[in-house]
Amino acid sequence: MLAKLFTGSVGKKFGMALTGLALYVFLAGHLAGNLLLLKKDGGAQFNAYSEYLLRHPLLVPVEIGLVAVFLLHVWLAISVSRDNRRARPHGYQIVRASGGRNLASRTMLYSGLLIFVFLIVHIVNFKYGDRGGGTLYDLVVGSFKTPLYAGGYVLAMTLLGFHLWHSFQSAFQTLGIALSPRLRSASILVCLVLAGGFGVIPLWIFFFFR
Ligand code: HEM
Repeated sequence: MLAKLFTGSVGKKFGMALTGLALYVFLAGHLAGNLLLLKKDGGAQFNAYSEYLLRHPLLVPVEIGLVAVFLLHVWLAISVSRDNRRARPHGYQIVRASGGRNLASRTMLYSGLLIFVFLIVHIVNFKYGDRGGGTLYDLVVGSFKTPLYAGGYVLAMTLLGFHLWHSFQSAFQTLGIALSPRLRSASILVCLVLAGGFGVIPLWIFFFFR
């Protein structure tokens, strides 16, 4: 039944919308925790929060669920793009920004795949990175004090912003909610808060931390 739901073209889009919206919930929680990095307490609250998560009995089940939701989202995105390409007349390529399609909507698969690459680098560095005897706070702050890291993160978060901006409205449309001016404004707000919030962290650390 579940497999069938995700094999038809409507089911695939529906699955993409639901998994995408679930990832917004993760992003909001992750951002709230990461903002503790900016507190002027030498990382006390951020490290305490990270230790609390590490000891939490639900951490592993939630992580497994997160990986499953994320991989399903990526797989459905690739599959829907492939179906769309096959459905087009042979050799016909749409490169115009007409019909309500803008840069963000036309590049969703590519921005999504680049975010996937960012995520692998991000997890290798921060979750499994060498803390050199220091804390997680030391590792993150030390990384963002280097121009390459801070710049790379700001670039990745700009990409994330584009992806979130389009996907928010698109997900609601797939779920049958018409694109209204209010939904457009909400998608811009959500994208600014999430991508902007994540982007401010490396910039703030790079410029204002001693
Ligand atoms: C300034 C931006 C960000 C900072 C400072 C940050 C920080 C961190 C840190 C420190 C960890 C390791 C947590 C631990 O080991 O306790 C982590 C894990 C993770 N981050 Fe981020 N992150 C940022 C942006 C993002 C974004 C944009 C995404 C998604 C697109 C993301 C997805 C993840 C995931 C999936 C994990 C692994 C979670 C787990 O397995 O428990 N992060 N992040």
